[in-house]
Amino acid sequence: MRHPLWTYPAVALIMLGILLLPAFALAEPFKCSACHRGLASGAVAHKPVAAGECLRCHQQLSDNHPLGKESMGFIAPKEKLCAVCHPGVVQKPFLHKPVAEGKCTACHLHHSSEHKSLLKAPTPALCYGCHPKERYTGIHKHAPVENGECLSCHDAHQSEGKSLLKKPGAQFCYLCHDPKLGMGKSTHKPVGTGECVLCHAPHGSAYRKLLRAEYPTELYRPFATDAFPLCFACHDPDLAAAVKTEQATKFRNGDRNLHAVHVNKAGKGRSCKMCHDPHASSQDRLIYPKAKGFGTWDIPIRFQATDNGGGCSVGCHRTFRYDRVKAVEQ
Ligand code: HEC
Ligand code: HEC
Ligand code: HEC
Ligand code: HEC
Ligand code: HEC
Ligand code: HEC
Ligand code: HEC
Ligand code: HEC
Ligand code: HEC
Ligand code: HEC
Repeated sequence: MRHPLWTYPAVALIMLGILLLPAFALAEPFKCSACHRGLASGAVAHKPVAAGECLRCHQQLSDNHPLGKESMGFIAPKEKLCAVCHPGVVQKPFLHKPVAEGKCTACHLHHSSEHKSLLKAPTPALCYGCHPKERYTGIHKHAPVENGECLSCHDAHQSEGKSLLKKPGAQFCYLCHDPKLGMGKSTHKPVGTGECVLCHAPHGSAYRKLLRAEYPTELYRPFATDAFPLCFACHDPDLAAAVKTEQATKFRNGDRNLHAVHVNKAGKGRSCKMCHDPHASSQDRLIYPKAKGFGTWDIPIRFQATDNGGGCSVGCHRTFRYDRVKAVEQ
């Protein structure tokens, strides 16, 4: 049997078509959604995915997808891919470690998600995935931590200062607390420099007021060198322990330590808070303008530091003066 001649061109045409098909496919990429469906179907869809712009991230490396080995790649190495379109997220000097390492998909889904910002889980659960939850509880908890609002204080990606805080230094705590707390004629040094966390644990603490160590609530307590753990973490207990001193404190008359006179008593030793505000005061040396808690009324204290000493009048009493160089006769 012989084939009629006219069948030959058809065979040739079909063969040509088969040969050219992949070339057409490359020139005009085939619709990915023909085979990959529902990638953008989550409550929150990534914009380029929803727009079907698959090849803004993926790259077709060979024409025999999906059969060919590694026929799909990415337009950039995976750890740099996201930042191609989101450079703003990796701009500031301090980066969250997984962000710095380009592990965006440790927290985000790439195509779509059920949670806002394409997150894998909502905060704080997301954070607890890497930062154990137990560390954010304590007997006394900071309200925003207790409410799981990690992002009211931290940025998820980056910051100008350390610890991913939303504001650097002193401005940070004042996002929510009154800056008046740190203003006055005298300001405690760590308050002025914004190092609030030297005294307060920002997440939670075993001590009241989120303090790092105990600071008594009562106005009197028997003196011991460990009676005021918070203050004595930075200040030498000798400022109140040494009965006579030439240098442990400036609160002295000659070498008679007036801190010791007031504080260093076996029974009713005065607490620091009888005289000092831990943050700032309208008077010198953090002296409260009013002594707290004498019954129902506060007694005004007027204190003035001088070059070599100071003077103090409490309520309507006469002014007591002290002088470190030339002791005042009491
Ligand atoms: C003819 C159907 C079909 C089309 C069209 C298609 N794919 Fe695929 N793709 C598959 C199949 C089948 C697999 C392998 C099965 C699996 O893992 O889901 C796959 C796997 C993949 C993978 C994962 C495996 C790998 O190679 O990394 C990616 C990414 C991918 N496709 C992207 C695309 C993109 C982008 C397009 C459009 C340019 C596309 N696909 C078009 C069928 C197709
Ligand atoms: C914004 C970038 C981006 C876009 C746009 C995008 N993808 Fe992906 N795609 C990724 C990343 C990242 C992965 C995950 C790679 C990994 O983790 O292994 C991925 C994985 C895949 C996979 C493997 C299965 C999976 O989900 O992990 C398929 C299939 C796929 N993409 C198809 C598509 C298709 C089809 C489109 C267009 C509708 C598309 N992608 C658009 C970034 C993108
Ligand atoms: C090709 C560019 C492109 C790439 C690459 C890209 N994105 Fe996007 N992404 C967009 C666009 C466009 C939007 C929408 C921005 C808008 O609406 O302002 C977006 C939005 C987002 C959002 C906000 C979503 C929302 O609804 O709030 C997140 C989170 C995000 N991308 C994460 C990623 C991650 C993670 C990667 C890497 C896997 C990535 N993007 C890679 C283009 C890209
Ligand atoms: C540790 C988890 C985590 C990692 C890692 C992470 N993100 Fe995010 N991202 C978040 C959270 C949480 C939000 C929501 C922020 C909010 O609601 O204030 C977010 C929001 C976003 C947004 C939308 C809002 C905005 O800030 O612009 C984009 C875009 C984004 N991320 C991109 C990225 C990219 C790109 C990477 C990698 C370089 C990345 N993310 C890595 C947790 C993460
Ligand atoms: C994928 C894991 C992962 C997730 C999820 C994660 N982190 Fe982290 N985070 C890390 C790693 C790793 C470090 C670096 C720890 C180290 O160096 O010891 C870190 C460090 C931090 C730091 C300290 C930064 C510094 O400068 O010291 C803060 C603050 C932080 N994370 C907050 C968060 C918050 C808030 C969330 C939730 C939005 C979160 N993290 C989610 C892995 C993660
Ligand atoms: C009220 C503000 C505030 C909130 C809310 C908050 N943090 Fe912090 N966080 C801080 C401050 C301030 C630091 C820096 C502490 C320091 O310098 O000693 C910090 C430090 C960190 C660190 C690094 C040092 C450490 O203690 O491990 C991690 C990790 C961290 N926070 C995670 C979280 C997570 C997770 C949440 C939510 C459960 C959260 N933070 C909520 C203020 C906050
Ligand atoms: C996102 C808001 C926010 C930020 C930022 C913040 N706080 Fe708070 N803080 C609160 C709220 C809300 C309370 C509970 C209401 C109150 O007592 O004012 C609180 C209470 C406190 C208390 C009293 C706790 C108690 O047991 O009575 C202290 C101390 C404190 N914060 C210190 C700080 C310090 C130090 C910083 C900075 C490291 C800081 N806060 C940053 C919101 C914040
Ligand atoms: C030298 C240690 C120290 C530093 C530094 C410090 N505080 Fe305090 N703070 C205390 C002590 C002590 C108390 C509790 C006073 C008391 O009730 O006896 C307190 C109480 C508070 C309270 C609760 C006030 C109330 O009436 O319940 C807030 C809020 C607070 N501090 C915020 C801050 C902020 C913000 C900073 C930084 C600008 C800061 N603290 C720095 C020691 C400190
Ligand atoms: C984190 C360290 C730290 C803690 C805790 C601390 N202080 Fe201070 N304090 C300082 C520093 C630093 C100075 C400045 C010393 C200097 O200038 O030589 C200072 C100075 C003072 C002054 C002198 C202020 C002035 O205007 O000259 C007083 C009063 C004072 N502290 C009281 C206290 C009391 C009371 C406590 C306990 C509630 C306390 N301090 C806890 C660091 C601390
Ligand atoms: C009766 C009031 C009174 C009490 C109680 C008191 N102080 Fe003072 N303190 C002063 C006066 C007044 C000065 C200022 C001395 C000067 O500079 O002339 C001072 C100064 C200081 C200074 C600055 C350095 C120095 O010693 O001259 C520190 C630190 C200090 N006090 C810490 C404390 C601590 C800690 C306690 C509690 C253990 C405490 N004070 C209790 C009145 C008091």
